[in-house]
Amino acid sequence: MKKYPFIISLYLGVAGLMALAQTTPPVPVLHIEADQIIAPVSPVFSGMMTEEINHAYDGGLYAELIQNRVFKDDATYPAHWSLVQETGAVASIALDHTNTLNEQLATSLRLDVASAAETNRAGIANDGYWGIPVKPGTSYRVSFYAKAAAGFTGPVSVAIESEDGTTVFAQAKVKQLTENWQKYSVTLTTPGNVTPTTKARFILAINSPGTVWFNLVSLFPPTWHTRPNGNRIDLMQKLDDMKPGFLRFPGGNYLEGSSIATRFPWKETLGDLTNRPGHSGCWGYRSSDGLGLLEFLEWAEDLKAQPVLAVYAGYSLPPKSELVKSGADLQPYVADALDEIEYVIGDASTKWGARRAADGRPAPFQLNYVEIGNEDWFDESGSYDGRFAQFYDAIKAKYPQLQCISTVGNEQPEKKRVHSRKPDVLDEHYYRSAEDFEREAPSRFDKYDRNGPKIFVGEWAAYEDIVPWSEKSRRLPPTPNLKAALADAAWMTAMERNSDLIVMQCYAPMLVNVNPGGRQWRPNLVGYDALNSFGSPSYYAMAMFNTNRGNLVVRTSLDGLAVDKIAPLDYSVTKDTASGTIYIKLVNVTSTPQTLQIDLGGVKQIAPTGLSVELKSAKLDDSNSITEPVNFVPVAQNIDGLGHVFTRTFAPYSVNVLKIQTK
Ligand code: AHR
Repeated sequence: MKKYPFIISLYLGVAGLMALAQTTPPVPVLHIEADQIIAPVSPVFSGMMTEEINHAYDGGLYAELIQNRVFKDDATYPAHWSLVQETGAVASIALDHTNTLNEQLATSLRLDVASAAETNRAGIANDGYWGIPVKPGTSYRVSFYAKAAAGFTGPVSVAIESEDGTTVFAQAKVKQLTENWQKYSVTLTTPGNVTPTTKARFILAINSPGTVWFNLVSLFPPTWHTRPNGNRIDLMQKLDDMKPGFLRFPGGNYLEGSSIATRFPWKETLGDLTNRPGHSGCWGYRSSDGLGLLEFLEWAEDLKAQPVLAVYAGYSLPPKSELVKSGADLQPYVADALDEIEYVIGDASTKWGARRAADGRPAPFQLNYVEIGNEDWFDESGSYDGRFAQFYDAIKAKYPQLQCISTVGNEQPEKKRVHSRKPDVLDEHYYRSAEDFEREAPSRFDKYDRNGPKIFVGEWAAYEDIVPWSEKSRRLPPTPNLKAALADAAWMTAMERNSDLIVMQCYAPMLVNVNPGGRQWRPNLVGYDALNSFGSPSYYAMAMFNTNRGNLVVRTSLDGLAVDKIAPLDYSVTKDTASGTIYIKLVNVTSTPQTLQIDLGGVKQIAPTGLSVELKSAKLDDSNSITEPVNFVPVAQNIDGLGHVFTRTFAPYSVNVLKIQTK
């Protein structure tokens, strides 16, 4: 008899537990074995990919403010220049192909003034890259080349003023023009009480009749590290904050050009600006080449990043897909690449090392990686194997220490790729939908041959719904929203977890001028106009990851996570041996909070308090923009309750880094 109450209460207890189990699913567990090392994280794991697209350099990072400074942007009219003719003045302007500054700068702008006076000037105005940025208390360096017809010696007034000419922000005068070309330089300084604006123009004007020719008209604001031909400070600061390990340049499609003739002409990007003719870029506008090979190298060095130098490999873009056959035809291109490498790392006793020294940089740069071409998997003829081998053999013969990167990877595993020389590294590019990244993040790199070449994910970005190369994407904002950022973060956990395979990775494109007509591609990491800049949510997610990297990936496994097509949580765990810090990265891609038990083994002591950095928002379409630049940014806060076993809940739509101190 006594048995029944026991059986009944046992039954009730089990039923109760079952009911509880049905309503409260078990908490998934992330097991971390901090003493089990999967791989070192490459010291250059995360970097920057760059090319002249979206006005990344001209009208972007390269600080020059004058658009079309050498008058070559359009052969038929002085694009971005206009005639200034105040009431009563009579004047005209025209491109002049006969009064050449030199062979490279063979087009000048001729200003003919028939009538002008002190109170009614005539001249030329430049509208900059969507305006001239005027800031308070700022000094701008002006330089230009000019010559005059007999009878006119100046002065030429130089000014930054409002678009309608009613407000002069800064002005100066230069004198003594002659019938020969001469360089004139002057500094313009704005007063401290100016309200920042881009609604401004740059003026060169005269107050009496005469004819003047102008060339290489330049206006520079203060630059990063005060380099004379340098970069924009706010953008460099944003890039520096990402702590990039490398800079991949000069492309991208920009390396290849739309034809062999318009490939990146590195030799013509060297030296004094008067020797740089500029060239036709492949993204619909001319490049000034003011940011040339040496400036790329200095840019990298200024950010303590290594250069990853891409050399032209005899293939230019579809639809023409111009191809140079391997063998004798390709040899000049191989020689050109060797010259380029010598410019970067040869000492001053070598021909191209001496040229670098003459350009102002005697010491060689550090270089470990050379990339042979760009996206040569587009070349379906199968010629890449021969071209790669020819470059590989020549580079390895002269520079055995250099790692050669092939641009044919495993993005399309169904296509058989042949490499008769084993590349050191394969460059793979992934522009995928947010769903694709989230679906593939847990296992994409599992199937790779660990004895094969290392992988460089040299371009990657999640798009929300519309592919970057579609016309429809032009209607979307230039930078990604939270939906894409979550997928980007999930993808970053996958790449970091697979550090035994992936030695480098970089998002692309990196920079975008957000003005109408400024961009050719979306999404992009960092946006700007002439005055301001902002980081996208993906930028902040990347900065969070890069500044909390660690040097070793440790063993992890996740139990009990219910996966319905897409894993709700993506993760990666690293540690820093020097400080004993454990970095746990967790991305909640769902609209519900995710609770996780974390079992942290393989360490003796764990500090009970630590740090959480969180990037989140309630809506997937939330983003940052030029008008709302810091809508959402990472927030750091102290946390407690840490130990060998602890539980935390991760907010919906959030990217998280937990920083835990161990001994
Ligand atoms: O990042 C934009 C373009 O995408 C790159 O120039 C090219 O390499 C890729 O196809």
